[in-house]
Order: sequence, then structure tokens, then C-alpha cells
Amino acid sequence: MENLVETRDLKTLFPILRGLFRQHVGDVRAVDGITLSIERRQWMGLVGESGCGKTTLGKTILRLLKPTSGHIYLDVNLEIKEKIDELEKTQPNSKAYKEIRSKYDLATFAGSKLKNLRKSMQLVYQDPFTSLDPRMKIKDTLLEPISVHGLMKGQAAKERVGEVMEMVGLSQKQLPRYPHQFSGGQRQRIAIARALVTNPQFVVFDEPTSALDVSVQAQILILLDKLKQEHNLTYLYITHDLSVAETVCDSIAVMYLGKIVEMGNPSDIFKKPRHPYSRALVLSTPIADPTRKRGRHVLPGEVPSPANPPPGCRFHPRCDRATDECKTDEPPLLSEGGLRSVACFHPIE
Ligand SMILES: Nc1ncnc2c1ncn2[C@@H]1O[C@H](COP(=O)(O)OP(=O)(O)O)[C@@H](O)[C@H]1O
Ligand SMILES: [Mg+2]
Repeated sequence: MENLVETRDLKTLFPILRGLFRQHVGDVRAVDGITLSIERRQWMGLVGESGCGKTTLGKTILRLLKPTSGHIYLDVNLEIKEKIDELEKTQPNSKAYKEIRSKYDLATFAGSKLKNLRKSMQLVYQDPFTSLDPRMKIKDTLLEPISVHGLMKGQAAKERVGEVMEMVGLSQKQLPRYPHQFSGGQRQRIAIARALVTNPQFVVFDEPTSALDVSVQAQILILLDKLKQEHNLTYLYITHDLSVAETVCDSIAVMYLGKIVEMGNPSDIFKKPRHPYSRALVLSTPIADPTRKRGRHVLPGEVPSPANPPPGCRFHPRCDRATDECKTDEPPLLSEGGLRSVACFHPIE
């Protein structure tokens, strides 16, 4: 299958500046070397505890943040990505390397190229209040991206707005209303409509249903699935709720302290987690079935500060399988065939 979205060794560090002269004393390593790929029409879940860097990764892929290093691709063919890798190794200072990156690597985009990209990649936040202006009628909220990108005018723009309203299960009659006149679930539908109005290829959802009741949450997930099928969309779905990821995602990436520790099919990860962190997450996730033993375990300790990550495997201070090797050497994310990959010296058999 073809990859729509790909990152290679992506890093987003936030500098820590101290003192009168704003000296650079360190970095928050929020995204610290992430290589992942999302196939076209795939729904990938990104899970991990709070503070692991999920939001930073999502925003960096969308280029709402500028990465410190690494590559981001949207719909770029394999030969070009390989050419960039080869030039990076052999002639990193060449004009050819710079030119090819400026054309294809989103990590280098700025100005109008970045603005153009926004049409194709969109973000839906957890709280629609942050993305919906309370003083703007829904109609104007939905028209805004169309006019910013100069996509359509007049009647055509109005028709598009009506169309996305119906796509998300709302009515055109509701267009003259303000955000506060809608329920939480309806507001999230409007936020989804706003993300889709420019006809994007790729959407990042950042915990979009975590503020909603379970029944409303289920309706939104059904809607997202339908929209994905009907409009050939590709999703990165950030959630700390593993049971959601298990139900809806085609693949799951487990993130810990700026790194991916395991990737695979939801059923593989849930039935047979290979990384001790994935296992701990799975065991701490409640499930409806009382005969199964999940939800009783609590993951011990807290996520260490990404400003000062532990050496070796970042999970070792919390891991019951850790040996000396784990304290000094960093396990690489190794492919185990198919979608499956794991970064652990002592994966669970
Ligand atoms: N703009 C920023 N400046 C400095 N540190 C940040 C910034 N944004 C996020 N961080 C830090 O980066 C780490 C990852 O944050 P985030 O991506 O929000 O994680 P998650 O979404 O998984 O909860 C956290 O330690 C957070 O405090
Ligand atoms: Mg977050």
C-alpha cells in the first residue's frame, strides 16, 4: 500500500532559555526522532500518556510547528524520498539536496507553500471552543477557510458550506446560529465540518471526543468512519483512551517520551503487546467485559520530564524487565514484518 504521510527521524525540541541573556540551557525533547508512515485511507491511532509528545507530533506533521530536524512528506513517491535520504548522506550541503527538499519536504516549507499546504492537512482539537469563534455565526466560521484559500466565491462558496454542514449530520438551517446554541457533540461536528471544507487529504484529530459523553463520542466516531470512507480521508487520531483506538483504528502507534515504542495492528497490540510500555497501557485500560482482567492495573510512576529524558531506553526506570543494557543503550524501533515494529531489547514473547 502507498503511504500518504511519512515522517523520517522527525525532531521537535523546545529550547529552554534562562537568565537575563536568555541563554540556551537545554531542550524539551517533545518529539525526538520519529519515523512513521500512514497509508492512504488508513486511520492511525496515536496513544500514550499525557506529556508524551502526541500533540507536538501532530502539530509538527501539519507544520503548525517547525521541526528542529527530520523530514515530513505528504503524498510524495518513494523514489523522491530515497533520493533525499541518499543526498542527505552523501552531499548534505549541496544545492541539489536543498532544492529537492524545498520542493517535497514539508519540514522546509514556509510562506505561501505552507499556506497552500493548510488546505490539504487539517487539525480538529479536543475542545471546539478553541477552534470556533464564539462571536461568529457558523456560516462565517465555515466560509472563512474557503475565502482564506480563495477556493470559491459567492453562491459556490455558500453551497459548499451547506454541503459540509450536511456531511457532518447537521442542517443548513442551523448556519445562521452561534456556537453556544449547539451541544458539545454538535460543536465538534462543526469543527469537523470546518476542517473538511477545504477538501483535505489528511486530518489530525487531537483527542476530539475526550470531552464528550460516551454515547455522543460513539456517534462522532461513526461519523468520522463514514467521512473517511466517502471522502478517501487519512487520519491520525490522538487519544489517551486505548479502548477508542482499539475499536476504530486500522493501526496504532504507541508513543513514550518523544519516541514511538511500538506500532502495529490494534488487535496485535491489544492481544499481544510486545513492548512493556504498551502492555502497561493495555492493562490499565478498562474494558466492558468483566471476565477479562483489564483495567485493574495502574501504570507505576510518572512520565519523566522530556527536558531530561533517562539515558538508554526511556522507559527503563518504570520497566520491570529492564537490565543494565536498557540503562545505557537505546533500543531502535525494529520492524517485525507487516505493520508490526517494536523498540525493546527484551520484548514480551
Ligand atoms: N510550546 C512549548 N514549549 C515548551 N514545551 C512544550 C511546548 N509544548 C509542549 N511542550 C512540552 O512538550 C512535552 C510534550 O507535550 P505534548 O506534545 O503536549 O504532549 P501530549 O499531547 O502527549 O500530552 C511536554 O513536556 C510539554 O510540557
Ligand atoms: Mg496533547
